[in-house]
Amino acid sequence: MTDKIYSEDLTERQKREKEYYEQYSQSFDVEREVDFSPIISGESRPWNSYWAIYQLVQEKFQAGKRLLDFGSGPGDNALRFAKIGYEVEGFDISEGNVSIAKRLFNKYQMKGNFQVSSAEKLPFPDESFDVIAGVDILHHVDIEKSLIECRRVLKKGGVAYFREPLEVDLVDKVRNTSLVKMIAPKEKSFEHHITEDERKLNNMDLETIAKVFPNIVMKRYFFLARFDRFYRKGSDASPSVLEQLDALLFKVFPPLKNLGGVVMLILKKD
Ligand SMILES: C[S@@+](CC[C@H](N)C(=O)[O-])C[C@H]1O[C@@H](n2cnc3c(N)ncnc32)[C@H](O)[C@@H]1O
Repeated sequence: MTDKIYSEDLTERQKREKEYYEQYSQSFDVEREVDFSPIISGESRPWNSYWAIYQLVQEKFQAGKRLLDFGSGPGDNALRFAKIGYEVEGFDISEGNVSIAKRLFNKYQMKGNFQVSSAEKLPFPDESFDVIAGVDILHHVDIEKSLIECRRVLKKGGVAYFREPLEVDLVDKVRNTSLVKMIAPKEKSFEHHITEDERKLNNMDLETIAKVFPNIVMKRYFFLARFDRFYRKGSDASPSVLEQLDALLFKVFPPLKNLGGVVMLILKKD
């Protein structure tokens, strides 16, 4: 088990991410209540990418299966995966996040192992996991190195799921105009949870991923739902009408999927 990572072993980008998250992790209340609705409410929200990853992971579940939460952050997602029944391991570059995740599991009296590690060099033997799940992580890391590691530690026949933001040429051109950046800033910020180096996945990243996992399957979300942020509170857990409308529009007119700003990657290792 690794509880520390030495800065001389890290790239400049990894150091900046780690420094950001050591500070950000202090904002988490260990006594917080975790919302288990995505896995226990019986409600299905396939049009919501955060809920959809639980549905996928739940469908894949069998007793005794091992799941790696790839970049586990403060541990809320890992806790839900453990509640489904998986034997869960997690890693994160931030010691603060790993400590919070461990304390969260203690609070809920759940079993789970967490260690400090970079995604680019994982501390697990080959073929360790049946399922890997990552939420908002690939856009913080060196994608090629991390996915090579992801594939290495995944068992044959195993699947990795990643939920990630994706660049959409037309939309991001508008998003990057000074006017829109004034309304919705993009600079490093703790308030908006933006690190200096994070960037949405682009087509080149998707090509890189497809080289490592040629069986790549992608599902898109989040077209009109971009506007949720202007009238809904981030903490609002009720279903989003715009997300549901997006799913309907994508069904009726599939080319619109290309405007979806979130992707679910389903990566099978044959
Ligand atoms: C947006 S957070 C997502 C965390 C978690 N998956 C979640 O959904 O709460 C990104 C996470 O990536 C971690 N991170 C950044 N760069 C990393 C790297 N190179 N290796 C491992 N973790 C990294 C950060 O410490 C942070 O916890």
